[in-house]
Amino acid sequence: MAKFYVTTPIYYVNDKPHIGHTYSTVAADILARYNRMLGKEVMFLTGTDENSQKGVDAAEALGKDTKEYIDEMASRWQSTFDSLGFTNDDFIRTTEDRHAAAATKFFKKVYDNGDIYEGEYKGLYCVGCEAFLTEGDLVDGKCQNHKKAPEQISEKNYFFKLTKYRDALLEHIEKNPEFIMPESRRNEVISYIEKFMDDISISRSSMKWGIPVPVDESQRIYVWFDALINYISAIGYTEETEQFKKFWPADVQIVGKDIIKFHCALWPAMLMAADLPLPKTVFAHGFFTINGEKISKSLGNAVDPVEMTEKYGIDPVRYFLMKEIHFGEDGDFSVKRLEERYNGELANDLGNLLSRVCAMTEKYFDGKVPDKADGFLASAWPSYQEAMNTLRFHDALEVTWSVIRQANQFVEQQKPWELAKLDDKKTLSDTLYVLLETLRHIAWMIYPFMPETAEKMFAQLGLEAPKEFSQSFESAWVWGELEPGGKIEKGEALFPKIE
Ligand code: ME8
Ligand code: MG
Repeated sequence: MAKFYVTTPIYYVNDKPHIGHTYSTVAADILARYNRMLGKEVMFLTGTDENSQKGVDAAEALGKDTKEYIDEMASRWQSTFDSLGFTNDDFIRTTEDRHAAAATKFFKKVYDNGDIYEGEYKGLYCVGCEAFLTEGDLVDGKCQNHKKAPEQISEKNYFFKLTKYRDALLEHIEKNPEFIMPESRRNEVISYIEKFMDDISISRSSMKWGIPVPVDESQRIYVWFDALINYISAIGYTEETEQFKKFWPADVQIVGKDIIKFHCALWPAMLMAADLPLPKTVFAHGFFTINGEKISKSLGNAVDPVEMTEKYGIDPVRYFLMKEIHFGEDGDFSVKRLEERYNGELANDLGNLLSRVCAMTEKYFDGKVPDKADGFLASAWPSYQEAMNTLRFHDALEVTWSVIRQANQFVEQQKPWELAKLDDKKTLSDTLYVLLETLRHIAWMIYPFMPETAEKMFAQLGLEAPKEFSQSFESAWVWGELEPGGKIEKGEALFPKIE
């Protein structure tokens, strides 16, 4: 059976999840659901990055014990993700033993391969970024992401020979155009690797929190070196389990554009140094802003995903996130736009289509699917699949909505209510069959994006919600799978209008 492994970044726990973290995780959830729908064996991983100085500082600011604070926050992230209905198969925390074991093994392996050496580090460190900065990164002496001056640090550290992999990285990027997506990010990474990339300090002598360096217990592993390893620790790198052998390398690693260098330079170099294959694709998406400003914990302008989904429903929020901006680009989060899309595309276009078609079937055919007739789906599925396979989620939704709009036009054009008056049973029957069967296809297309809505649609169409995805989905492609005589039952409105 084909496999599919998708990951999200693991998030820092010094604050609660905001809509930006939800965005990355929704994207991964959509890919996971879509690939399950294709019949693949899916592994979908998300989790929390808990060995950061930020967590220690946040606990201290609240006068709490670090471990207690981090456990509390991690469970908050987990419960938020559960309440958002994510179908992640695992949730990795980097304070877990299984992760520490993997990070230790990985460090040793790279050390034994001769790619870690001792050196003196002097420089500027931004705790917000958990990264060393150069003068070039600063504006008015401050980090641009966190609007804070970095700290001056000088210490003995272990360094990773990142520069040793410069040529290999460039070659890999050139030979594998799907390694960094979207294409627009590739040059940014190439230019960094060619011009700026340096060996990187991967230990801290001042940290008391984190995973000890296996060859020098007085130091802790640098949080990024440790965090990246989560993608393999969670699937059994330490014991090289069957799961590990099956799922690594990952198929898609979703990240935000802010952490692209870590994922497209450091991480692949680390994997090369540990003799492991590289992920097939790292997809760096863009950022949601609020009033043009980056949403961030540090800036304190976060939108709460739980409040949003309680107010509008999980599916509409998922839809909005994926439709509002092209995956890969930046955009602004606006509640007004969300409400417009809700009332327009969801309530009017989709919700009304389903309810009027079901109502007409009840009225004219006693709620039974009429005899089969030919439809107009044409090339919708190939375009949809092409978009999904290249993570152009907005395009997949556009294809779906073009089918929805066509179906609505078909209703207007055929005027079933007039066909009924004229007693043109055959045309009426053909019209309703086409609409019902088209709705079945639409339900499949929206399933990865709006799973609950798809299930409601299936129910109204008298179909069982899909359980065995592989089998059900094969039939989704075929025109005419909706069986005559099946029971159609108009249910509640999918999207009650927002005033
Ligand atoms: O960087 N718009 O964690 P983090 C879109 N622990 N996506 C956003 C966003 C926004 N406004 N804000 C955040 C870390 N994100 C590290 C990662 S991985 C081995 C370690 C998303 O809590 C986006 O995916 O700062 C971004 O890359 C990630 O959250 C950063 O989360
Ligand atoms: Mg961040």
